[in-house]
Amino acid sequence: MAETTYAKGLEGVIAAESGICRIDGEQGKLYYLGYSIQDLARFSDFEETTYLLLYGKLPNRQEMESFSMRMRASRDLAPEILDMVRNFPKDAHPMELLQSVISYLSGYVQHKIQHSATCNCRDTLHQVVQLAGVVAAWRRFHEGKDYVPPRQDLSHGANFLYMMRGEEPDEYEGKVMDACLVLHAEHGFNASTFTARVVASTLSTCYSSISAAIGSLYGSLHGGANEKVMTMVEQIGGKDKAAAWVNRALDNKQKVMGMGHRVYKAKDPRAIIMEEFLLELSKRKNNTRTYDTLKEVEKTFRERMEEKGKPIYPNVDFFSGGVYDLLGIPKILFTPIFAVSRVAGWLAHILEQRRDNRLYRPKSLYVGTDPREYLPLENR
Ligand SMILES: CC(C)(COP(=O)(O)OP(=O)(O)OC[C@H]1O[C@@H](n2cnc3c(N)ncnc32)[C@H](O)[C@@H]1OP(=O)(O)O)[C@@H](O)C(=O)NCCC(=O)NCCS
Repeated sequence: MAETTYAKGLEGVIAAESGICRIDGEQGKLYYLGYSIQDLARFSDFEETTYLLLYGKLPNRQEMESFSMRMRASRDLAPEILDMVRNFPKDAHPMELLQSVISYLSGYVQHKIQHSATCNCRDTLHQVVQLAGVVAAWRRFHEGKDYVPPRQDLSHGANFLYMMRGEEPDEYEGKVMDACLVLHAEHGFNASTFTARVVASTLSTCYSSISAAIGSLYGSLHGGANEKVMTMVEQIGGKDKAAAWVNRALDNKQKVMGMGHRVYKAKDPRAIIMEEFLLELSKRKNNTRTYDTLKEVEKTFRERMEEKGKPIYPNVDFFSGGVYDLLGIPKILFTPIFAVSRVAGWLAHILEQRRDNRLYRPKSLYVGTDPREYLPLENR
């Protein structure tokens, strides 16, 4: 038997082969199926990227049209789902709602799950598409407004904004929202994707895998850094106060949110694109307050880190919160929007897992008590 090693949190352990995502942390590069994130953000859209992730290649025109039609036809939420959104406990987090909705949708499906060749995970696309509508409906109901049915003529991102606001976003806003979904769709063996693969490895349904992955993403160590970045921006209260704030935070050994990454030791390529979106949106909306504050935070932080010989750069979350904020999305929806996008990557990994499946079954290092005598209750 092979020698067993112990790596807390599986750090540094290669748990499977995968052809989906390549991350070059040293150079700051990210590829989905060999396509650079820059090209995908610029030239592709969320529907095409989802096709790429699920089928392993870019679609030709006919394939794209038919896939896009299928995705768009799945957008509308059934009255039962709308009731669920409406009646979910008011104080529950929308991530809990998303988990429940996925399980509920699963009830409508006759599952064929033996392996990817016979499973029907790519036939039913509502588990990928409807998270966006649910998030939009949650927002509207919380504001005391009515459900806005989807439009078929808008991209996935633009339609999400339309369903949330009840008004069509302008072309640039729609493009940015859709590109944000592309940027977050996939990122290798992170915790939620690994969760999805572990559940898939038991040959459970893709719905239970996705629901488990949403639960994993809900944790504050995974999703949620962009929410904290926006809280930081609010606390700082303007560009002029940013340098002092960062210096104080670092003196107090506090982490500055949105800075640094486990994998990227160069600038996160998604952060570069996100920064461009934030700058352009800020100019268009005549509101550069968040952008200016963030740039000052970045400058001071990097100067302090460079003094210590630690070049640390912004990650994608540093700018994404500001983008969402300018698109009118409240902080509580930042992590749900991450799920709206990452669901495409989860499903790609579920399919890949099934193609060459081996049940995940690591071991633990036992550090408990030695065997001991069981004493009946009256003798304890
Ligand atoms: C993501 C993160 C956990 C990576 O941590 P890591 O793997 O320990 O990063 P590094 O090894 O490059 O850190 C090197 C040093 O810089 C410090 N550092 C890294 N990111 C920092 C940050 N955001 N604020 C302050 N100090 C930071 C580390 O504490 C470490 O200091 P040390 O050498 O004195 O122990 C960390 O950067 C972090 O907590 N960032 C803020 C949270 C965040 O934005 N998360 C979203 C990630 S997508």
